[in-house]
Amino acid sequence: MAETKRAAITAVGHYLPENRLTNHDLEQMVETDDEWIRTRTGIEERRILKDEDKATAFMGAEAAKELLDQRGVSADEIDVIIVATVTPDYLFPATACLVQSEIEAGNAYSFDVSAACSGFLYALTTGANFIESGRAQKVMVIGSDKMSSIVDYTDRSTCILFGDGAGAVLLEPSEDETGIIDYIHRSEGDTNLSLYQPAGGSLNPANEETVKNRLHYAKQDGRTVFKKATVGMADVSEEIMDKNDLSADDVAWLVPHQANLRIIDATANRMGLDKDKVMVNIDKYGNTTAATIPLCLYDWQNKLEHGDNLILAAFGGGYTWGSIYVKWALN
Ligand code: COA
Repeated sequence: MAETKRAAITAVGHYLPENRLTNHDLEQMVETDDEWIRTRTGIEERRILKDEDKATAFMGAEAAKELLDQRGVSADEIDVIIVATVTPDYLFPATACLVQSEIEAGNAYSFDVSAACSGFLYALTTGANFIESGRAQKVMVIGSDKMSSIVDYTDRSTCILFGDGAGAVLLEPSEDETGIIDYIHRSEGDTNLSLYQPAGGSLNPANEETVKNRLHYAKQDGRTVFKKATVGMADVSEEIMDKNDLSADDVAWLVPHQANLRIIDATANRMGLDKDKVMVNIDKYGNTTAATIPLCLYDWQNKLEHGDNLILAAFGGGYTWGSIYVKWALN
């Protein structure tokens, strides 16, 4: 087996649908207003994948193709493809297998990770373990969600939050001290089901009643999730800093899951970080679930410097949450 090395992010790709759904558009659909949405969430618009014949795998594959181009590697060099999603094209087969065939990565093996808004973080550390063990040289980690497929556009408490998009990173063995240094993952069974999609699984398979009762859409007790997320994301971000002796000055960027600007601010405050060290694009894309963190990395990649200390943090349904300490390898 090859020598053990850290896993470094060596390329970033993304896909965002063209179509924009603004707060003003939503004012025409449900009883809400732009001011309420902006002040409570930080969101101004989101992207929506309108094409009915395209879904999560399409967006993931587009992000993957951009990634391959950026790095200048061919798809058949990829060893593993991991897709994090809560909106797979089908319950099975895995969306990762569909991405694999679309990009013609014939030598890879592929699987999905289901951890809601923490999905990308879980997938990233899963991918890193393949590199660190020496069993893989190139691992593609994709976060892709077509949230518009499970959002109820008659429910003002959820439809304002979510958008569609995909982001992808390539993991390869690091050549120096950069790469994924440490991570903390947590989960706790949410027995009250504060954030879930009631029907379509094996407990409540689709039938006339489930469709009539709108049970195939995401439901959320926003207040409960908000409280858990605020504490969880801040706790785990502070914990990873303590564990790695990082002060606020040592951290170049917080890369937070984009669910609500108030949750992001609370996390940054606890870490002692100024706003100019926090990646925020929730205003443009809303909550794209598994795609938020790679979309931040994509948007900020030109500002990042080799050796920058990044803290990635997320909280999501499950409950699931976690943080990852990354020393940036590019630039
Ligand atoms: N427009 C206008 N009013 C709205 C509204 C909307 N889109 N949605 C809800 N309201 C109303 C509610 O009905 C409520 O009215 P009431 O007091 O008369 O009952 C009031 O606004 C306050 O609702 P509340 O749910 O307490 O608001 P909030 O400040 O908690 O914000 C969320 C709601 C959803 C934005 C917030 O709870 C949140 O972001 N939760 C976590 C989301 C999240 O992180 N989800 C993904 C997990 S990663």
